Amino acid sequence: MSDPHPIDPRLEQAGASDESLLAAHEQMLGRKPEDDAHYRKLPLVLLFVFSGLIFYAGTYLNHFSGRYDGATFNENGAPGQAGGATAPVDPLVQGKKNYDQVCITCHQATGLGIPGVYPPLAGSEWVLGSEERLVRIVLHGLKGPVKVKGVEYGAAAMPVFGKVAGSGYNWSDEKIASVLTYVRQSFGNSASAITPAQVSAIHAKEADRKEWTQDELLRLP
Ligand code: HEC
Repeated sequence: MSDPHPIDPRLEQAGASDESLLAAHEQMLGRKPEDDAHYRKLPLVLLFVFSGLIFYAGTYLNHFSGRYDGATFNENGAPGQAGGATAPVDPLVQGKKNYDQVCITCHQATGLGIPGVYPPLAGSEWVLGSEERLVRIVLHGLKGPVKVKGVEYGAAAMPVFGKVAGSGYNWSDEKIASVLTYVRQSFGNSASAITPAQVSAIHAKEADRKEWTQDELLRLP
């Protein structure tokens, strides 16, 4: 015979008092939500501090960044002589900057070009020879077959760089003079500088030219 009043184990909890239940729950809750509350003020203060710093830094850069132009810093300026005369920019330094901006993508940092596509500037008779032809090539571009150091090129065209119709670059005569001075005196080349006046003279004389071809260039001095 079994017990007529078995104690169901699920009913045992009913014997717990309200206090003991509250105490048990409080323990299980552990951290209370309010514990986070007094940390909130710190990030708010930091927000103001950093906003202030960013504003200060922005104003500072606006005044002293020199428009992030590497040529702005005058390392030859006398100390304490703000706004003094700047040293003239070396055409070789400026020319290298211009070369590295664009020419380098085709004629490469070595000036050796890419075989079969972009002709070399190192040791090229076009770079070291007639100054006027060289100016023409960069001012108005060159297309069609061209022979450089005994090798025929012509797969691609040399872009128009001058401030002329159809130019994608609109480089000033001065900019062209500096880049040409750089190519004539780099990659082992050693030839005289090209002046802005030389470029301007040809620019004025041949203002409405289209891209040159090798044969046209060779007919001129
Ligand atoms: C998009 C590629 C490209 C760029 C950029 C470029 N060139 Fe050229 N360049 C050529 C090609 C291609 C030729 C050969 C054109 C032809 O075959 O008719 C050439 C030819 C020349 C030549 C005559 C041939 C020789 O090798 O001596 C000179 C000089 C020259 N480029 C100088 C420059 C200079 C300086 C710059 C930068 C201002 C420049 N090039 C930028 C592609 C380029």
